[in-house]
Amino acid sequence: MTIFTRRNFLKSTVASAVVLGGIAVYWPRSGFAQPKDGMTNVLKIPPLETGRNEDGVQVYDLTMQNGTTEFFKGYQTPTSGINGSYLGPTLRVRNGAAIRFNITNDLGEPSTLHWHGMHLPARMDGGPHQVVQAGETWSPEFTIRQKAASLWYHPHLMGKTSEHVWRGMAGMVIVEDAESDALPLPKTYGVDDVPLVLQDRSFTRDGRMDYNLSMHSRMVGLVGDIPFVNGTYAPYFEATTTKLRLRILNGSNASTYNLELNDGQTFTQIATDGGFLEAPVELTLLQLAPAERAEIIVDLVAGKNVQLNNIAVSGSGGGMMRTNNNAPAFPFLEIRPAATLTKSAELPSRLTTMEWLMEADAVKTRVFNFEMRMGMGAMMGGDNSHTINGKAMDITRIDEVVTLGDTEIWELRNSSVMPHPFHMHDVQFQILDRDARPPAANERGRKDVVMVNPDEVVRIIMRFEDYADANAPFMYHCHILEHEDAGMMGQFVVVQAT
Ligand code: C2O
Ligand code: CU
Ligand code: CU
Repeated sequence: MTIFTRRNFLKSTVASAVVLGGIAVYWPRSGFAQPKDGMTNVLKIPPLETGRNEDGVQVYDLTMQNGTTEFFKGYQTPTSGINGSYLGPTLRVRNGAAIRFNITNDLGEPSTLHWHGMHLPARMDGGPHQVVQAGETWSPEFTIRQKAASLWYHPHLMGKTSEHVWRGMAGMVIVEDAESDALPLPKTYGVDDVPLVLQDRSFTRDGRMDYNLSMHSRMVGLVGDIPFVNGTYAPYFEATTTKLRLRILNGSNASTYNLELNDGQTFTQIATDGGFLEAPVELTLLQLAPAERAEIIVDLVAGKNVQLNNIAVSGSGGGMMRTNNNAPAFPFLEIRPAATLTKSAELPSRLTTMEWLMEADAVKTRVFNFEMRMGMGAMMGGDNSHTINGKAMDITRIDEVVTLGDTEIWELRNSSVMPHPFHMHDVQFQILDRDARPPAANERGRKDVVMVNPDEVVRIIMRFEDYADANAPFMYHCHILEHEDAGMMGQFVVVQAT
């Protein structure tokens, strides 16, 4: 495992560093107050928002706002958030519930809020067509129609998604249902059921996190060098139970994380993007692409600290471009179990039942080819630098027309030199295969993001249900936000069968 050593740091001319009890945290510019001993900040837990009932509708008030956040002692960093200065509350909703979000935009500029992973009518999706102008309130209303899952929300304004997310606007959504109620899993929010929004950011000397894209980051995405969890720098969490459920979101703009516990200890993945896996999967390494989620269970021993680290993993096939959207190695979180722990229930061996979609039921296969154009124009972030099927996103063009009720196969082909995390709105899909090989055990579930590696062909299958609207498109795109903004996005509509 790659970790920064004291010697590396002292030799480094660009980095100032602190070595913290065997782990190291660094930033490339000096000037910030440095933590003294190990992980020094209590992990912030986003407030849980369960909404209020208004005539049978569960209502959530969300205000997009600007503010400042003290990530580093003595430095007020300008940021944006929802109902706060950075990130937003965790929204808990129930399958079957009618809900309404009142989204007020106090940013002084247009933005949107998109419900990532949610199955809903396109007009409620919060994508680039549902702009909330400065000073206005938008109130999408719909019924939750999906199984228990950890979803999230973030702005999705045309050409501005990356900047708005970078400034801090994102939050988690927890969907619960009768199935999750019945499972003997840790479910006390903030105690043994903890959301972890993993991000990285970089800072200027005076503590701002300017959104200035270099030619390199325009091309490959913006990767920061300082890790944050729920907007907390160098965080620790004090655990009180023998099992800890972590709902992990890769909320970064562009970084792929490769997560490990220290000493190579195993942990158990119970859910992926769209909810529970059929059975728990034991892992020692979890790769999470931008926007992917995983719920994991970590077994704890009284008094024995556990660290969640991002490790450096080189990509397949060599070549710098293949690996450089991996974040640098850094520790994310230290878990500190109390001297005595409350015993948690044993993990069930079955979690849910998947309704597997059959290849034979697909009425159509669509091919999507992801390309990056090299050269000066592309480096300057020219509009056509990142494309799907040779086309850059055009908000006035519908790329695909899908018929309600159909099962389809989408074949994702990566003809570029770096991985692209593909995401589509409206549905949860299933992965059929990667280069004709079945997906890993922890990818056999409901997914809304799938990593497509260079030269790889990933086939996914999905069924379009419930919502048709010929005039309101859903998006599909690369979830490296700088790629999305540079054109690697398209639009599909779902129409009624004629
Ligand atoms: Cu996470 Cu189109 O979005
Ligand atoms: Cu989405
Ligand atoms: Cu991409």
